[in-house]
Amino acid sequence: MNKKNITCIIGTRPEAIKMAPVILALKNENEFNIKTLSTGQHTEMTAQALKDFEIIPDIDLKIMKERQSLDYITSEVLKGVGKFLDENNQDLILVHGDTSTTFAAALASFYRKIPVGHVEAGLRSHNKYLPFPEEINRILTDDIAALFFAPTEGTAQNLLNEGKNPEKIFITGNTVIDALFKILDKNIKSSLNLKSPLILLTAHRRESWGEALKNICAAVEDIIKARSDVNFLIPLHKNPIVRNIIQESLKIYQDNIIFTEPLNYIDFVHAMNFCNFILSDSGGIQEEASALNKPVLIMRELSERPEAISQGTGILVGTNREKIRDIALKLLNDPDNLINITRKNIKPFGNGQAAQKITGIIKNFWR
Ligand code: UD1
Ligand code: UDP
Repeated sequence: MNKKNITCIIGTRPEAIKMAPVILALKNENEFNIKTLSTGQHTEMTAQALKDFEIIPDIDLKIMKERQSLDYITSEVLKGVGKFLDENNQDLILVHGDTSTTFAAALASFYRKIPVGHVEAGLRSHNKYLPFPEEINRILTDDIAALFFAPTEGTAQNLLNEGKNPEKIFITGNTVIDALFKILDKNIKSSLNLKSPLILLTAHRRESWGEALKNICAAVEDIIKARSDVNFLIPLHKNPIVRNIIQESLKIYQDNIIFTEPLNYIDFVHAMNFCNFILSDSGGIQEEASALNKPVLIMRELSERPEAISQGTGILVGTNREKIRDIALKLLNDPDNLINITRKNIKPFGNGQAAQKITGIIKNFWR
């Protein structure tokens, strides 16, 4: 049998976590030759995430440099993936989500007329600058894609509204839920020693650099002043632009804040489970929190994941200091009054079977 050559391309931490279940599921099939290509847009953070799933990339383009620009990432990925594709015949390329790796890798494949499968297709905020540059990255990737793995009904509908071929759109659930369940199933004890009440905080988005990040830190300060018993766990993103502002602004609150390096996925899942609630601008964390029934205050002006908000786990608070402070304090003081996780049993992002579904769809792609 002529095996099909498929390369899964990733570059950053969330792509590594969310593509891992797909890579593992595809590797179980003997009709495929599966390669993992990391662009190395993130170095340590991608390697850390892959390690939890025991995946070692077959190719690493190692493009990362400090304070890299969008032009730099896009052009290096385009050239590096292009060269790989020129030297290695591929039948299908899989990309994930909305990073610059995602878009540039899809473009390199398009230039060689190699079909692209887009995992986590169809997310839309309908504002080209929010999140920046991810909204345009995912729109352009979907313009290129031949197969759309939409995580939810709403994302499939977005693709239909844009005129994408209905026969190529598949609702699969989000593979992050598969990743989350894989880690929970392992039942490995975390080495973290955490104290209640605990707020888990992450922030990294480009559109939050500067003022928004300062507002977030000011809100943390207000919360600590109002509730001196509160603990924060802040795993810092490796980006110096982000970590410098956060550490500088909050360094005097050592009694209340634990700063860490990016946590491995096992520890991070433990922290999400343990904390009272999460404050975050992350995309993936909104989906994980939904599966864990954990409230997450979303520090963005809008979310392309309305499912988490209608389920009740996601609360949009933006980056306004007072709003973050007020809602966080309400949640600490009287959680039952504020949180109405009305649809606890509804799991909008799927049940952990997404990777298996994607594998089945890919098997039929050439039939
Ligand atoms: C990128 C993605 C964003 C995704 C995020 C996940 C783009 C444009 N942005 O944003 O969509 O949500 O990853 O975290 O694709 N760094 C390290 N080591 C690492 C990782 C990053 O030192 O392992 C530092 C480097 O200095 C790098 C900087 O972080 O230049 C920024 O990385 P970059 O990928 O450009 O942007 P992110 O904000 O991480
Ligand atoms: N995560 C992690 N360790 C951390 C922080 C986050 O493993 O210290 C995981 C988190 O569970 C989620 C993903 O990283 O699966 C989110 O990554 P990030 O916030 O960097 O990107 P986004 O989701 O915003 O694209």
